[in-house]
Amino acid sequence: MDKLVREEIFNTAKSWILEAGNIIRNKINEPMEIGSKSNPNDLVTSVDRSTEEYFVNKIKSKYPKHLLLSEEGFGDNIQTVDGTIWIIDPIDGTMNFVQQKRNFAISIGIYHEGIGEIGLIYNVMEDILYTATRGEGAYKNGQKLPPLKSGVVLEESIVGLTHLWLCENPLVDERVMQELVQTARGSRTYGSAALEFAYVAEGVLEGYLTMSLSPWDIAAGMILVNEVGGVSTNLDGNVLDILKRDSVFTGHPEVHKRILEDFIKKGRK
Ligand code: IPD
Ligand code: CA
Ligand code: CA
Ligand code: CA
Repeated sequence: MDKLVREEIFNTAKSWILEAGNIIRNKINEPMEIGSKSNPNDLVTSVDRSTEEYFVNKIKSKYPKHLLLSEEGFGDNIQTVDGTIWIIDPIDGTMNFVQQKRNFAISIGIYHEGIGEIGLIYNVMEDILYTATRGEGAYKNGQKLPPLKSGVVLEESIVGLTHLWLCENPLVDERVMQELVQTARGSRTYGSAALEFAYVAEGVLEGYLTMSLSPWDIAAGMILVNEVGGVSTNLDGNVLDILKRDSVFTGHPEVHKRILEDFIKKGRK
């Protein structure tokens, strides 16, 4: 993608994500419709839908040739990575949004011919915007994030994962995962994949592992993590396909390697 074109799209996307966040913040205490999708804990609200529609309307009127892949179904039916695709999660962390009214984000990853060009993750209630453009670094509220430091060990790391890894699960033997959390310095569960990616990019989490995520959960985060020298793969260490749902493991390169080799591989089912 041409640099000037990218800069223009970045500035536009940034103004839209801030505006959409502002709209959500202004109505955070207003009543909303809450429903569920695949199971009673898989929540969706009228705000997820209206935020997604906000982006669809903006993108379709300003960039009619661009395509949109998004969670709540207002986007396009995308089969290939051709062209420019906006991959959007209007609210990542809907459970937090509903029950905590914080710890959620808007996530936008913009891909051109399959390459991640622009990533934006907006922590709405804290008004913190993470951004990245390919080859130009990652930023937190306009401040450049330093490359991840070398010489980081698992014993001094905090790993993002949920308690479900410690219960019997179809992917990795829970005893190996228990060993992993006992070896790491600490573990955290934030409940927003986009924010957990942003925390890896910021260097406040050394890894984040999850059993299954969709394109909109990871599209922006992968660009951010990549810009600071982190890596993102599936649980088998393979490259992620930006259009497919898969297991996801992102992190500091040294910690990622250690966890894959000494733990995941040992317990992989
Ligand atoms: C969810 C969040 C959550 C992750 C789930 C995602 P949503 O996204 O990122 O942290 O564990 O797998 O589906 O549904 O709140 O946008
Ligand atoms: Ca959802
Ligand atoms: Ca999500
Ligand atoms: Ca969502």
